Amino acid sequence: MTDPFPEGFLWGAATSAYQVEGATREDGRGESVWDRFAHTPGAVAGGDTADVACDHYRRWPADVRLMAALGLSAYRFSVAWPRLFPDGTGPVNRAGLDHYDRLVDALLAHRITPVVTLYHWDLPQALQDRGGWRNRDVVDRFADYADTCFAAYGDRVTWWVTQNEPWIVGVLGHLRGLHAPGERDLAGAVRVMHHLLLGHGRAVQALRARGSGGRAGVAFSLFPHVPASEAAEDVEAAHGSDGYVNRWFLDPVLRGRYPEDMCRRYEDLAGPLAAVRPGDLEIIGAGADFVGVNYYTPRVVRAAPESEPFGWEVVPAPDGTAVTDLGWRIAPDALIGLLLRLRDDYGDVPVLVTENGAAFGDEPDAGGRVRDRRRVRFLHDHLAAVRAAIDRGVPVVGYLHWSLLDNFEWAMGYTPRFGLVHVDYRTQARTLKDSARYYARVIAANTVLP
Ligand code: NOJ
Repeated sequence: MTDPFPEGFLWGAATSAYQVEGATREDGRGESVWDRFAHTPGAVAGGDTADVACDHYRRWPADVRLMAALGLSAYRFSVAWPRLFPDGTGPVNRAGLDHYDRLVDALLAHRITPVVTLYHWDLPQALQDRGGWRNRDVVDRFADYADTCFAAYGDRVTWWVTQNEPWIVGVLGHLRGLHAPGERDLAGAVRVMHHLLLGHGRAVQALRARGSGGRAGVAFSLFPHVPASEAAEDVEAAHGSDGYVNRWFLDPVLRGRYPEDMCRRYEDLAGPLAAVRPGDLEIIGAGADFVGVNYYTPRVVRAAPESEPFGWEVVPAPDGTAVTDLGWRIAPDALIGLLLRLRDDYGDVPVLVTENGAAFGDEPDAGGRVRDRRRVRFLHDHLAAVRAAIDRGVPVVGYLHWSLLDNFEWAMGYTPRFGLVHVDYRTQARTLKDSARYYARVIAANTVLP
């Protein structure tokens, strides 16, 4: 048993609107880019869509009771932008606004702190039709939408996550075409990532202007980097990939500038960084009240001169390595290194683990019990890593497991199961997995239990 976690540590779980809500046409919700993408033949494994998902839009009262039974002190969810602004702009849709109002009240009534993500990838399709995140105008629309949320919920919500994983939006959505909106264009992806960061900065400004005292952060998909060998070219490849994945986001928000090596790389491959206008980096670099860390797995990188566009590649885990169902290496110690690195390179900014979890497909046994021993182990080992980082002085303020529920895993559909709670998609029955029970005991003890 380790020492207790700091007083007020946020123990929680996370979801996002499109992945769990369903009810995509309910109460005036508009179409999102993910509705459009998931309904495109071949885009999502098995032809799955999130039209129904976990039906969380209707079942949230029972789901909140479940969270309370687990003793969670925080719940991270996202607001679906197209529920508030079905056309991306224009008057706010009252029914959408009221939905999250009730959710926030119910959470608070159960003493669960809401951690609200503003953008978890469900851009209103109407804005995509105007160029989406490639169009700088969308940053203004995002700032308006963010301010609408601050005005509506800011009297009760104190934790805000402006953007979720801008790297993934850029790379999977705009460079590799694997996520909505399915584009493949490096210059476009670079533009998009800049606009997402600018959106973050504008939202921070809007929150501060309201003076309501909330905290705004941004959730990055951070991957610790490991060179595949000690050879100079692999070490350099890993450093380059770290710039692409991590520094491109951390540096502007926490240091007010883009990393030089990556600027050169993007300029060489995709032309001048024309989207970056004078003044933008002051807005982005106004910072964040916390950094949200989404940590899943490290990236082992080697030089591969023939690999487009950067000349490096990720080395898949060799047979015998501990991996999840998706083949992602399980490496809790890399989380310690990541958290220490944030402190060493970027100072004492508070860190919230906004996501950490694993796909393991355990199903209920004959007695209805889900014995997900690998997730229990995963949780234990990663919580111990968080604890170790705190012991070494990193200001980690909370841990939000991904995910509360099994849900729609984007282009991979429903097959990967990340939940602490099993969802039977035929009946919508929820079953606590062993990991949920273990987590509840940890939370009650406020320490990592064996
Ligand atoms: C990151 C994303 O934020 C979330 O939506 C996704 O389901 C998990 N990682 C697992 O891949």
